[in-house]
Amino acid sequence: MEVFWNGQYDSIDRICIHPNDRGFLFGDGVYEVVRIYGGRCFEMAAHERRLLESAASIGIELEGFEGMEPVMKKLLSRQSLPDGNGVLYYQVTRGTAPRKHFFPEPTVQPNHYAYVQVLPVPDLELRPGAKAVSLPDRRWLECHIKSISLLGSVLAAEKAKQNQASEAVLHRDGIVTEGSHTNVFAVMDNILWTHPANHLVLNGITRRVVLELARRAGMEFKEVPIELAQLKNASEIFLTGTTVEIWPVVELDGLTVGDGKTGPITRELQSAFDQNVDLLA
Ligand code: PDD
Repeated sequence: MEVFWNGQYDSIDRICIHPNDRGFLFGDGVYEVVRIYGGRCFEMAAHERRLLESAASIGIELEGFEGMEPVMKKLLSRQSLPDGNGVLYYQVTRGTAPRKHFFPEPTVQPNHYAYVQVLPVPDLELRPGAKAVSLPDRRWLECHIKSISLLGSVLAAEKAKQNQASEAVLHRDGIVTEGSHTNVFAVMDNILWTHPANHLVLNGITRRVVLELARRAGMEFKEVPIELAQLKNASEIFLTGTTVEIWPVVELDGLTVGDGKTGPITRELQSAFDQNVDLLA
């Protein structure tokens, strides 16, 4: 596997990362995961903007950063993806410095790391709907920052897996926030509901695309928090994210959602999403 590390492209086994990298020591960094369809990046401008915002919000300066796209292209020229479908992972940490909690003085160069990985486009007919379990949201209060400090998400994802579920639906004191690596949408009374984009959730790029598709389709939607008890009575629930696209939830805490199949609004959004992806070609 070929990866990118601070301007250099090489086999992953030949890259040396200093143990004083602050990502390694503190999880002090930010990242992005970008979908590649047929060799082209989906919503790259939005991902690039969010990476810069995340970095700025934790005081990492990315002066002279030329963006993720040139790196993605170079990686793809060295390692092709079948049908050109995959993801780009791009991470920036505050840099390498002896372990002190405060920022290094003088400032050090951020460390950039990236790779592309195969990820087939989900087959909407074959992919089973997700089983989800609700869990308390025990993450920090700056979830809008796409930080590499993901312990809260990791523990939630593992707990979901131990419960034979594919995703955790997190809630703070009974208010649904998001998944461990997805945003959560519900359909209630034919209205689409999702948590507002504040500090309690990541403002997912897929989330934003779905809201725009809903707007264009004339669907009523609300970016308003809902309670877990309401979610359990929703007629449809789905998860959104770069890796999962639009993924219907068919079971939540052992209860069947709707009739246990992908609901009509989810389906309509999935097909609008696919048309959007086709526009990339
Ligand atoms: N995760 N919420 C959380 C907590 C996430 O980690 C993610 C994405 C999302 C969806 O965001 P987007 O639509 O921009 O992918 C929501 C990435 C894919 C990951 O950690 O692998």
